[in-house]
Amino acid sequence: MAYTTTAFPDNFLWGASTSAYQVEGAALEDGKKASQQDIINRDNFRERGFATAEVTSDHYHHFREDVALMAEMGLKAYRFSIAWSRVIPDGTGAVNPAGLKFYHDLIDELLAHGIEPIVTLYHYDLPWALVERYGGWISRQVVDDFEAYARLIITEFRDQVKYWTTINEQSIIVQYWTQKCYIPEEFRGNNQLRYQINHHMNLAHAVACNLVHELVPGGMVGSVIGYSPIYPLTSRAEDVMAAQNAHDLRNGYYLDIYFKGKYTDSAMAYLERHGLAPKIEPGDMELIASGTSDMLGINYYASECAKACPDDGTREMRWNGVNLTGKKGDISGFETHPGFYEMCKNPLLDTNDWDWAIDPIGLEYLLRDIWMRYGKPLMVCENGLGAFDTLEADGTVHDPYRIDYLSRHIAAMKRAMDYGVQMLAYCPWSALDLLSTSNGVKKRYGFIYVDRTDDDPRECRRYRKDSFAWYRNVIANNGAGLTL
Ligand code: BG6
Repeated sequence: MAYTTTAFPDNFLWGASTSAYQVEGAALEDGKKASQQDIINRDNFRERGFATAEVTSDHYHHFREDVALMAEMGLKAYRFSIAWSRVIPDGTGAVNPAGLKFYHDLIDELLAHGIEPIVTLYHYDLPWALVERYGGWISRQVVDDFEAYARLIITEFRDQVKYWTTINEQSIIVQYWTQKCYIPEEFRGNNQLRYQINHHMNLAHAVACNLVHELVPGGMVGSVIGYSPIYPLTSRAEDVMAAQNAHDLRNGYYLDIYFKGKYTDSAMAYLERHGLAPKIEPGDMELIASGTSDMLGINYYASECAKACPDDGTREMRWNGVNLTGKKGDISGFETHPGFYEMCKNPLLDTNDWDWAIDPIGLEYLLRDIWMRYGKPLMVCENGLGAFDTLEADGTVHDPYRIDYLSRHIAAMKRAMDYGVQMLAYCPWSALDLLSTSNGVKKRYGFIYVDRTDDDPRECRRYRKDSFAWYRNVIANNGAGLTL
């Protein structure tokens, strides 16, 4: 029998989400200097024809219009990130007053419209100066520099911002490390560095949690995890075990740090056996354990599937491939850890054009699972459907596929809540169209259409998609009446 939602709690935060480099543009304006994403996306443009990060959605110049549109939708929260290289252009040292002013203006504008800011301190965009100086996240020095940056931002906005998230999607950074971090060519063959970078991020995350607890009375802080529940391909015991192994290395390995202050034993044993484990210095685990989380942000797009993978010399270790074309089936390969697990396509689920499985029940499953294991409040910081949208001659955009996707995911989240999961917010990706991390601007997620192409930013005019009116209605009804 179909499940239909009843109203959400009165204080539930209906929101939407973006990240700085994907939406702001003004990449080198008003004192901002390059971040590693400016460099990565410049190369993406040259090699693949995807848009650079120079203009993206030009939110820097359109933010008042964008906030007005968010208010028109009825948003109660907006989750966005701060660009470190806008406020401290060289990564350390001099603060850029114009950069701070931009975020002051944005936060003031949000609050004036009754929209709660949910701030992410770091979303893939390390100042390029730090990559040049010491290789970026590869070096432990970044932890101290992040601390100075985080202290500045948290102090500056502590009276206005209650909800803080630290680092976006460490689990995804490990998987797709050259997309999400600039990794100098000579290091790309060294996979241990994926886990070393993650260890440095764990330290930075703990530092930021401690800073929020020190500086923001009544504040709440946590990480944002990119999370896919992992199903076994079959009910064979070997496949079920492989799915557990994949869960431990891809999900548990992060969750246990945030909530238990320790690395997952099985994942660590696997990494140690293969020379991939991070180097941990005295005091590191104590610091990590001290940085307790009050909540967790979850980014959910798709569930994944795993099967047994024999360690018989026929397969090599590898990390996830990516679909660069938007043609179903063009994914360039699956993560493989011989003797532990191999990821694969779930034959039972449809996908979007980039091979991401569409699975609303996966959201209910993961929320209940995380709640049961760790018992902390959760917020969905991202969830959405990347699609090719069409702007019609009359300025409309018909995106029933997105409405269907979001509607069923909201219903799945509500069913998890009916079973006791405490949810603070739902912030789908994305408030407006922006630059995808892997597929340029033609892969769209927004409620608001931004008129530009990968090679021509045009004027970035905004248009309301059909999903805009639909989401306004969902919020007006406080989520009641949606069917899974
Ligand atoms: C999440 C990221 O991984 O997924 C976002 O936090 C990203 O930054 C989103 O945009 C969708 O991924 P993509 O590659 O389609 O942009």
